[in-house]
Amino acid sequence: MSKKKKIDAVVLEQRVLADGIMDITIETSLAEDANPGQFVGIYPKNKSTLLPRPISICEYDRENGKLRIVYRIAGSGTAEFALYQPGESISILGILGNGFPLDKAEGKRVLIIGGGIGVPPLLGLSKALHEGNEGVKAGSVTMVMGYRNSDNFLADEFKKYGNLLIATEDGSVGTKGNVIDACRENKVQADIIYACGPMPMLRGVAAYAAEIGAKAYISLEERMACGVGACLGCICKTKNTDEHSHVNNARICTDGPVFNADDLEL
Ligand code: FES
Repeated sequence: MSKKKKIDAVVLEQRVLADGIMDITIETSLAEDANPGQFVGIYPKNKSTLLPRPISICEYDRENGKLRIVYRIAGSGTAEFALYQPGESISILGILGNGFPLDKAEGKRVLIIGGGIGVPPLLGLSKALHEGNEGVKAGSVTMVMGYRNSDNFLADEFKKYGNLLIATEDGSVGTKGNVIDACRENKVQADIIYACGPMPMLRGVAAYAAEIGAKAYISLEERMACGVGACLGCICKTKNTDEHSHVNNARICTDGPVFNADDLEL
């Protein structure tokens, strides 16, 4: 279980990464507990909501106490975050979520698939598995990232950590189509897949994993609203019933956001 505390953090820098996509780095002691695939809740200063906005961690620097967060402006909360200036103090809750199970990847052919705003949390994951700095080193890392168009945010950074394939809806870069089209076109093989993105993409990932005989761990974080178990807006269906509650439900924010695809009814 991740430790969770509400704490003040300081904005170090913020920039526009792509159209509607922001890249903010904050200084916080929470960084020392961060792992790939986990997230934080950021509290808007506008007190009309008491709930934080869950946003995934793109990269973490435990030694220097820094978290890099890449998010899409998608409502009043994130529109407010986009105005934060260096030096400003913000309130965050973290570290939240289970993160990706890295231990499964030692020496394996790893395929990392991301779509849209599911792309950012996979950067820290790719780096960790490529460099082995979390004690687990993949045998190989292939990354397949899906974008709408040639605005391929973070692509140059992914390239440092393995073989990067790109799919774009408009065909301007890489494969025209989605990430699974790119996997098929390039006959990508893998032992283990990690993915984050919208539900239709994750269904495609689970099907592709079954096709090539790989295990898939998928992050459903795009479906979260409050991120702290309060809104019940993130229920997903599991194949097995919960031992205690006897229901086929899991809450993405508190039980996930990363699940073994085999355990879910997608
Ligand atoms: Fe609100 Fe999970 S996102 S309960």
